[in-house]
Amino acid sequence: MRVGTPAPEELLKIAVEIARQAAQTARRMRAEGVSGISTKSTATDVVTAADRAVEREVVAALRDLRPDDTVLGEEYGDTAGSGPVDPESVRWILDPIDGTVNYLYGLPNYAVSLAAEVGGEVVAGVVRNAVTGDEWTATRGGGAYRDGRRLHGSTESDLGQALVGTGFGYDPARRAHQAAVLGGLITYVRDIRRFGAASIDLCMAAEGLVDAYYERGLNLWDHAAGGLIAAEAGLRVAGLAGAPAGRELLIAAPPALFGPLHDRLARLGVTDGP
Ligand code: IPD
Ligand code: CA
Repeated sequence: MRVGTPAPEELLKIAVEIARQAAQTARRMRAEGVSGISTKSTATDVVTAADRAVEREVVAALRDLRPDDTVLGEEYGDTAGSGPVDPESVRWILDPIDGTVNYLYGLPNYAVSLAAEVGGEVVAGVVRNAVTGDEWTATRGGGAYRDGRRLHGSTESDLGQALVGTGFGYDPARRAHQAAVLGGLITYVRDIRRFGAASIDLCMAAEGLVDAYYERGLNLWDHAAGGLIAAEAGLRVAGLAGAPAGRELLIAAPPALFGPLHDRLARLGVTDGP
């Protein structure tokens, strides 16, 4: 890290402050009623006025505090900083509302997810459930926490005893393939959970509320903060055959469970579909 790049703890402090405000905005807007609904990639991939408003609010707050930094947000894409382009500068990665379908239905499981990346590596992240106020944080090398309590994930090592979280994309062809893989997996695990917000799923894995989580097709804003939180809780967070976690596949599992889950998913052709 170059001289002048803030420490991860400093970036986390900014992220937490901004995510708390943003979560309050999302919650207030939901109480006032869902508005401005339109669709994105498919007829079920929705965006609301709140997704856009929260993203604008976060970008403006970051602009105020850290004008040189860039931001990647789900709804408005890249926002350049006012400083020179520098590979060591900070990029913020934002999902203004992760779990938009839950938001739409009033299910209390949607979050603001905000991560800070330096030199291509996520170094700090916060996920805040906008309804319950549950908040998970991590800094690279500094551990993962929920409301001040250090997280260590599950100790489960037997796939047959594992409670596994997952999710589905919005594209019908991808969903069909994901369902087929899940159909093959379900007899090898204790059970499956689908809560509808990838960032929170990763935090639940960090906390051991599920033993593991996997999903194909995630975007960076879905997993940047939650992935760091899971990794800092001691989970292995990676893709297929040693690839880094990403759009192709993300598996988050305690080290002893990672191999069995990875190999079963590989046998089921998890990355063979769209
Ligand atoms: C979605 C949620 C969902 C996951 C999808 C994501 P969004 O994000 O995280 O749980 O299964 O892959 O796209 O659309 O609610 O921000
Ligand atoms: Ca979103």
